[in-house]
Amino acid sequence: MKKHLHVGIAGFGAMGRTHAYSIASLPYFYEDLPFRASVRGICTTSLDKTERICDTLGFERAYADAHAMIADPEIDVIDICTPNNSHFEIASAALDAGKHVLCEKPFCFDEQQAQTLAKKAAEKNLVCGVVYNNRHLSAIMRAKQLIDEGALGRILSFSFHYRHDSDIDPARTVGWKQNAEICGAGTLFDLGSHALDLCFYLCGDFAKIGGRSQIAFDTHKQADGSLWQTNADEAFYMTATLTSGAVGQISVSKLSHGSEDGLEFSVWGTDGAIRFTLAQSDILYYMDASQPKLPLGGTAGFTAIPASGRYPAPGGKFPTVKAPQGWLRGHVHGMYLYLDAVAGGKHFSPDFSDGAYIQHVMACAMKSDAEGGKEVDV
Ligand SMILES: NC(=O)c1ccc[n+]([C@@H]2O[C@H](COP(=O)([O-])OP(=O)(O)OC[C@H]3O[C@@H](n4cnc5c(N)ncnc54)[C@H](O)[C@@H]3O)[C@@H](O)[C@H]2O)c1
Repeated sequence: MKKHLHVGIAGFGAMGRTHAYSIASLPYFYEDLPFRASVRGICTTSLDKTERICDTLGFERAYADAHAMIADPEIDVIDICTPNNSHFEIASAALDAGKHVLCEKPFCFDEQQAQTLAKKAAEKNLVCGVVYNNRHLSAIMRAKQLIDEGALGRILSFSFHYRHDSDIDPARTVGWKQNAEICGAGTLFDLGSHALDLCFYLCGDFAKIGGRSQIAFDTHKQADGSLWQTNADEAFYMTATLTSGAVGQISVSKLSHGSEDGLEFSVWGTDGAIRFTLAQSDILYYMDASQPKLPLGGTAGFTAIPASGRYPAPGGKFPTVKAPQGWLRGHVHGMYLYLDAVAGGKHFSPDFSDGAYIQHVMACAMKSDAEGGKEVDV
């Protein structure tokens, strides 16, 4: 019989929901998984809210808090999706109780907390992880492969940028991610942890780093209309030198108009370069510098490598390898619209008459083909 892993999720906002969705979807994406996994229960800051979520999503147990969840002997894994200031306390208690721990980024509030947890996890031989999820995008896996294979030669320089527009929109109210007491640091912890991890993962260990934070707006509006005195950085600009000698820039900002989730990077080596943009995450751009530039431009230049569904086995079969990342989301939305129409007695579009119309157009195209390609009336 397959081992069944029972997961307890602490915090059920954007990321708790994302993790629960990921767990539920595993058997669809990975054939013949050697284990089963499910969310046994969750906790938030309000038992009422927790019970409502459990009822909607079918989780068996609504816990009063993280400690009650950790105390449940039937929970194998504690998955921490709470605001940053609670990661250490929950992770520490979970490790003491012998649970495996998956923790959202940023891992901790400070280095001492992080070292304590790393030591505890190693001593107890528990499987623990931090959610630096960008590493698992297929285009980034391909980038890592190219770099490890030496396709770029010696890495000379890099630039990693992660930009949002959330601190520049005057209509937007601030939450815990702008409160240093809860987030620890603003953009450095929120976006910088991702950018620094990617730089480390792809390019190697850091030798030196310089940083400059920015607060552009002294105050921000809070949900109740009152003003919040800004105390967390709104942008952070870094230069770094790696142990390999490569030098580059890493900057993160929530002051960037036009950037929704604007992660992008380039890495330049002696033999080539790579370039990636999260908004076009189906593609990794790779430049092979050995290609000729002449005559008339030659073939030197960036090649767009499709990467969307190219996950190694047992992943990669669903959805099809060629499906762009948004393809499945479009199917989910279509299914929602259809079932919502059935449940509510509403009209669904495209309906059978739309189907019949396209059928007719295809019949006309076939007729034209049969008649030697001459255009026919539709
Ligand atoms: N990896 C990523 O892509 C990514 C993206 C966004 C956020 N995050 C990280 O995920 C974490 C959660 O962020 P979010 O955007 O989901 O936040 P959120 O504000 O949407 O949700 C936080 C949830 O935690 C609950 N909560 C707060 N304190 C708690 C406590 N002590 N015990 C139990 N529940 C508690 C809240 O009730 C809420 O349900 C943060 O550390 C954040 O940095 C990661």
